[in-house]
Amino acid sequence: METKTFGRTGRELSRIGLGTWQLGTKWGDPFNEEEAMKILEAAYDTGITFIDTADVYNGGRSEEAIGRFIKSHPDHFYVVTKCGRRLNPHTDEMYTPETIEGFVDGSLMRLGLQTLDNILLHCPPSSVFQRDDIFARLDEIKRKGKIRNYGVSIEKVSEGLDAMEYDISAIEVIYNMFRLKPEEELLPKAQEKGIGIIARVPLASGLLTGKFTKNTVFGSKDHRSYNRNGEAFDKGETFSGVDYDLGLEAVSKLKELLGTDDLIPYALRWVMMNDAVSVVIPGASKAEQVYSNVRSAEFPELSSEQMAGVRDIYDRYIRAGVHDNW
Ligand SMILES: NC(=O)c1ccc[n+]([C@@H]2O[C@H](COP(=O)([O-])OP(=O)(O)OC[C@H]3O[C@@H](n4cnc5c(N)ncnc54)[C@H](OP(=O)(O)O)[C@@H]3O)[C@@H](O)[C@H]2O)c1
Repeated sequence: METKTFGRTGRELSRIGLGTWQLGTKWGDPFNEEEAMKILEAAYDTGITFIDTADVYNGGRSEEAIGRFIKSHPDHFYVVTKCGRRLNPHTDEMYTPETIEGFVDGSLMRLGLQTLDNILLHCPPSSVFQRDDIFARLDEIKRKGKIRNYGVSIEKVSEGLDAMEYDISAIEVIYNMFRLKPEEELLPKAQEKGIGIIARVPLASGLLTGKFTKNTVFGSKDHRSYNRNGEAFDKGETFSGVDYDLGLEAVSKLKELLGTDDLIPYALRWVMMNDAVSVVIPGASKAEQVYSNVRSAEFPELSSEQMAGVRDIYDRYIRAGVHDNW
């Protein structure tokens, strides 16, 4: 497994991590503990040391399952969790230093830890990225020893730039073949400041695997059914904000360009080719997907012609509907 130092935390971690939004559920299905454990076992087995989770994933079951698993594999995993999305309504006013500390305590309990490796503000309203009181409390929580580091998960590039005014260790951002904006300003600045970059939604919710067609049916509780236009949360989290049919067209062009129907290793290697990216975190709803995704660690870099081709497809199909929205 390829490794890289995670920003200035000094931790040497696997370049491919595990995303656990869909851990043991396949988005919407009831939680399946056995499948969740198989996925975590696959991560351990393949040398993954980075896990991304959040207090809201499966109502806390994702964190609890990870907590149970890491107990039997002490000191192997670096677990990044997130907080804030339990607030209802999810508004700036609801963010207080006290609620943040309460969320940290909740995650410590569910993960069964004394100290969290890292906790991120989970895509709060944009104004929160400029809140001195929130970041001051995170500093205090760090001094108390409840967290080792903190950071932010962002929707918009501008939010990451705002958050860099504080002592953040990490930024989690959507970065994939269908989301190129972060590489213009955010990723170079983060690298310069020693901030770890966690590249999420690297497969555009599965679109960039190449496995979906016009006839693919998603479950009614799967956000790929109900959030295509941002009905429940930010549209960018579903298919990376790309219109599904247009995305399929762009995917068919990628298949022609790369000469294969299996885009997974190309899509993940493409993300890792940016040196500012510390870790890429494909989500897996089955253990086999973890084994399949780690192939990209051994996969060669794309050629300059292939890179130019990917950019051309982005410019022709994706840019207009996506680039300036995030
Ligand atoms: N706001 C935030 O901070 C935020 C938002 C979104 C995600 N995240 C994090 O980022 C992680 C990754 O994002 P994501 O899961 O939304 O999107 P993703 O990684 O782009 O796509 C994951 C989906 O792609 C499919 N897939 C993955 N590997 C596959 C393989 N080898 N073969 C076939 N299909 C495969 C699966 O779809 P099927 O289940 O249909 O098979 C899987 O559920 C999440 O798990 C979560 O930890 C954070």
